[in-house]
This record gives sequence, structure tokens and C-alpha cells, in this order.
Amino acid sequence: MTIEDAMKQRHSVRSYTDRPVEGEVKEQLEELVQQCNEEGNLHIQLVLDEPKAFDSTLAHYGRFSGVRNYFVLVGPKDENLEERCGYYGEKLVLEAQRLGLNTCWVGLTYKKIPEVFAVEKDERFVMVIAVGYGTMKGAAHKSKSIGELCTAPAGMPDWFRRGMEAVQLAPSALNQQKMHFYLEGSKVTAKAGFGLLTKIDLGIAKYHFEAAAGKEHFDWA
Ligand SMILES: Cc1cc2nc3c(=O)[nH]c(=O)nc-3n(C[C@H](O)[C@H](O)[C@H](O)COP(=O)(O)O)c2cc1C
Repeated sequence: MTIEDAMKQRHSVRSYTDRPVEGEVKEQLEELVQQCNEEGNLHIQLVLDEPKAFDSTLAHYGRFSGVRNYFVLVGPKDENLEERCGYYGEKLVLEAQRLGLNTCWVGLTYKKIPEVFAVEKDERFVMVIAVGYGTMKGAAHKSKSIGELCTAPAGMPDWFRRGMEAVQLAPSALNQQKMHFYLEGSKVTAKAGFGLLTKIDLGIAKYHFEAAAGKEHFDWA
């Protein structure tokens, strides 16, 4: 499955079967977590077989059921921690999709279970991503148009358009899609916009853009 296929097939899934994440799939996820942590200076942890975080009234209110596994996004307190969590969290989401799993980013509707993960001194807990075998595949979200999501005064080369199509597929909190991309020559600027968790959304969108546009075509401004 290509990364673009994974983006098209990924939708938030909030209901999971009791099939455990185990064997090779578990090993690959753990290896990916380690890679993301090294590359992104993060302390993401994979929590398996822990039903309590999604067993509260809040989680049921958020329509979650059967969640027993999740990534906990943690990292050093610095100014772009949230954007990095978005970027590497989405890398994990798309790789999980390729492994036949489903996911959902969760910023609000879960309960923190502090005894199952570690937050070291000078680190901050950011949010979680539910992962497992869904009872359904989810459905495509409505998206803003490419014209609403970017500004490209001198026109759009193919690679930029491909990147923006991938941004349209990116998950965002409350599907708010507040991010905006600007093209100037071969420089791309991406801004978060105001709102809840928009820096996480920006990191997610930048991962989608980069993976689809191809890093060789542009530089981040
Ligand atoms: C940063 C972030 C936080 C989110 N928090 C929640 C949440 O607390 N509860 C929930 O049910 N969905 C949550 N979502 C999922 C979004 O509602 C979902 O991504 C969006 O509606 C687009 O749908 P899709 O993921 O199916 O494409 C969150 C998504 C992101 C990116």
C-alpha cells in the first residue's frame, strides 16, 4: 500500500474489535515508535491492552468503544513539541493503516491513566491516538477546497497540487482545517491558524504534504 493509498483509506475509527495487537504487527509498531522518537526527539509510548482510558463516561460520550490500545504522545517541553507530535503521530497513523490497523486522534474524549506511561522531568504529555482493529473502516470527512487551504500567486506546479490534495485528506481536531499553505518559488510556508490543537493539526498536515509532494521539490520556509 502506498502512502497516498494509506491517506485515502484512513478515516477516524472509534469502535474496535477485541482482536489484540500482537506478533509482527506489534513489533513493527514498536520499532516505528522508536524510530519516530529518535528522529523527532520525542517520547511516544505504545500502550497495549489497557481499557480504562476509554471506559469513562467522557469516552462513551465521544462515541468510543472497545479501545484497548493507544499511542501516548509525550516529549520535551519546547516550543514546537505539538507540531512534532502531529508530524510523527501521523507517520505512525499512516504506517498503522498500512499494517491493517485503524486509528483515531484523541485530544479530549479519554481519561489519562498515568500509571501506564512515563512523563520524565521537563517533558509534557500532549494527547493520545487510539489504535486497533476497527469494527468498521470509517468514512471520508468533508474538506475545504484546495483554494481555501493555500495561496499560490504564481500558479500551482503538479507537486504542490499533489501535496495540497494530501492536506485535504489530513485529520484535524473537529475537522477544523485551520492550516494554510503558501507557495513562493520553491519555498513553502505552512501556518497553523487560531483554534484548539491547531499546532498538532499543522504537524499532521505538513507530514501529508511532504509525503505526497516529495521533499526534493521544495524547502520549508
Ligand atoms: C488533534 C486532533 C484531536 C482530535 N480529538 C478528537 C477527540 O477528542 N474525539 C474524537 O472523537 N475525535 C477527535 N479527533 C478526530 C477528528 O474529529 C477527525 O480527525 C476529523 O473529524 C476528520 O475526520 P477523519 O479523521 O475521519 O478524516 C481529533 C483529531 C485531531 C487531529
